Formats: sequence, structure tokens, C-alpha cells
Amino acid sequence: MRILAIETSCDDTGIAILEFNSQSQPKILADLVSSQVKIHAPWGGVVPMLAKREHQRNLLPLLKQALKESKLLKITNYKLQITNKNLNSKFKILNKILEREPELLKKIIPFLKKYQKPKIDLIAVTVGPGLEPALWVGVNFARALAYFWNLPIAPTNHVEAHLGAALAFGTESQGSAIPKNLFPAICLVVSGGHTQLILMRDFGEYRILGETRDDAAGEAFDKVAKMLNLGYPGGPAISRQAEKFKSKNQSAVFARPLVLRRRKIEISLPRPMINSKNFDFSFSGLKTAALYLTKKLTKTQLKNFTPAIAVEFQQAIVDVLVAKTIRAAKEFKAKSILLAGGVASNDRLRETLKLESEKLKTAFLVPPRNFCTDNAAMIAFTVYLKESALQKKEINKYKFDWKNIKADANLTIA
Ligand code: KG4
Ligand code: ZN
Repeated sequence: MRILAIETSCDDTGIAILEFNSQSQPKILADLVSSQVKIHAPWGGVVPMLAKREHQRNLLPLLKQALKESKLLKITNYKLQITNKNLNSKFKILNKILEREPELLKKIIPFLKKYQKPKIDLIAVTVGPGLEPALWVGVNFARALAYFWNLPIAPTNHVEAHLGAALAFGTESQGSAIPKNLFPAICLVVSGGHTQLILMRDFGEYRILGETRDDAAGEAFDKVAKMLNLGYPGGPAISRQAEKFKSKNQSAVFARPLVLRRRKIEISLPRPMINSKNFDFSFSGLKTAALYLTKKLTKTQLKNFTPAIAVEFQQAIVDVLVAKTIRAAKEFKAKSILLAGGVASNDRLRETLKLESEKLKTAFLVPPRNFCTDNAAMIAFTVYLKESALQKKEINKYKFDWKNIKADANLTIA
């Protein structure tokens, strides 16, 4: 079974082709991501209409490259093409499917004329949650290909796919089908758009235990990085600054609060809702506290103390995320803890949650960093897991005709 996966929920355009053999071992034939960081950086965050434009530009070159890498790109027999009477009416329907993506439409027609239908069995595409205009580009691209090549589509939930990445590529899973004895699992999904604590009783069976009431964890990283003039995306920039502080102040890292001696400025940020009884999060107060702190400093002080603020801010987020995840793991007697989403590439968070999971004797699964941020391989893998899980229950409801697929910006996992 070969799956072509498409991901355009935010500012990364992803195309992957995965092959699954009879032992369910996934083989990544191609996994390409085109990041739009440079395009959005001047605005300090993702601009949906720019993301839509960039996805339209990126999708086809990525698909071509992915097919090439997978050795599936074959030129059409031209004679055969021109004798095909149906072709023109087929292009008319393509015009309709891609009427809101004119730039993509312009490119797809010559591509489909030139190349044969590749040996793919299924198209997987992220349908939500995400930025509506961005999602639609990927969804309509998938619909166009599925229609033209007569393939089924598997609509995929982006958050579930982040969890799929932890199951597929997490350290303990050795990249095969779902490892045994992982359920119930407590899953922490932290990205630019989501912060959720999810109870997974089995693959596909979810209950949201808690989520952020305001900003997502990644969003907080991005906003505070902006205050510190660290650019976008903020997460990697803040963790680099924190590393800088750590290497200069080996012993001082965990001594809180950090006090800047001469000016008696205390660098101390709150841990919002850390002791609340529920599993919800809130990061907007932390962001405001960081803003007040930066306002107290002169320009030079702000520059000098940026690494210290980064350490404290990062630690505040990690403390809250880890405390709630561990409490949930205890309460639900979790056999494993899964960490996923863009913020899961944060070293401090990975290390701390790993350590705390070990104390609980609970398995800990986190994808390698490149599978934490958005990618299409996780979309393909999740669809594969879904097929296996549903097959066991003799349900075949994950594949659909191209006509029945639509984007849903607010799609939830449960
Ligand atoms: O999952 P993702 O690629 O996209 C969404 O679905 O949102 O997550 C992107 C988010 C951004 O907010 C980025 O700042 C954050 O993940 N991020 C990090 C790190 N790397 C990426 N946050 C903290 N530390 C990191 N090392
Ligand atoms: Zn994501």
C-alpha cells in the first residue's frame, strides 16, 4: 500500500509518499517540507492569505520532486493521451475543483498532461484543524488529483497526525505498527495552534482532558520572542537563548528567581494554573507578565538579559505542561506518555517529561525533532494506523470519494 500525503494546515507545505509492506513496516519513499518562515517573518506570525499563495506555489514542485525520489514519476505516452476523448471534460471538472486556487490550476494541467498516474493507492490530506484558506489549498489539490487519477482520499485530522508521529517515529516504537501496551496513553500536543492534553484509550479513541483557554504554548513562545526581538518562529529562538544562558551560568540555571544583581531586577514569571484542579492551561497571563518585565528594562538591559528571560519563560511553560501531564498520567494510570507538535522539539520539555515519565515507570514517546514540526509523513502514517485499527473492527469508513471531502478549520479530535 502506497500513500501520498498532503499537509497545508499552516505555514509548512508538506508532501510525503510512504509505502507499507505486509509486516506494516513503513518505508518513507519521500518526505518533503517547504517552510514559509521567511515569507511570514516580517509580519511576526503566519498571514493566512500569504500561506494560501505559497501553498499554491509549492505543492506541485514538491509533488514532482517526491514522485521523482520515489521513482514514480513517469512521462505519459503522448499518443494515448490525445486519443483520450474524455480528457477535455476531465479538465473542465479540474477547473471547477481548483477555481479558488488559480495559480495551482495553471500548473496542474500541464503536469497531469505530461505525467502518468503514479502507482499510489490512496491520497491522505489534512482537512483540519488549521488556517481555513491554507487547508483548502491542500484539500482541493488532493481532490483534483484524486478525481483525475481516480483514487480515494483519506481525510486526516492534523492533531491526530501529530500523535501518529509519536506512535510511528517515537523512540520506543521502532517505526512499525502501534507498539503494544501503550494504552491508556496521556498525550500532550503542543504547537503553534494547539495545546491539548488528550487521553488515548486506543488508537482513534480520544477524550480531551484539557486545553488552553487562550494562547497555545507555541503561540506564547512566538509572542514573547517578538518582545525580545528574537524574530519568528519564536520557539527555536527562545530555546537557543536559553541554551546560551545555561552555558554561561551552569549552576545558576535552576536558582529562582533570577536576580540581576546591580539593578535588583528580579526575573521571575508566573506558572499559570499549575495548581488548578483541572487539566486546562492558560498562557496569556504569562505573556503579559513577560511584557511587564521587558518594559521595566532599558534597551541595553533587555539585550543583556534576554538569555535570562528566555530561560525563565521556557521553564515556566515547561513546569506547567509537565506538571499537568504527569498528574493526568497518574490519575488515568497511563501506560505511556506521548509528546507531540512543534513545541515538542523543545529540548528542555523533552528532557523534563522524559525524566518525569521514567520516575513513574511510564513509557515515553516523542518523535525526532523533524517529525515534531508539521510534515506530511505523519499524515500518511496516521491514515495507515487508522486503516489497521478500523480493519480490526471491520469498519471501512476512512476512505472517501473526492466529492465528499472538505476543509474544517475547527475540526476536533474528540
Ligand atoms: O506543529 P507546528 O509546526 O505547527 C502548528 O501546527 O502550529 O508548531 C509550530 C510551533 C511554533 O509556535 C514554534 O515556535 C514552536 O512550534 N516551536 C518551538 C520549538 N520549535 C518549534 N517551541 C519551543 N521550542 C522549540 N524548540
Ligand atoms: Zn502542527
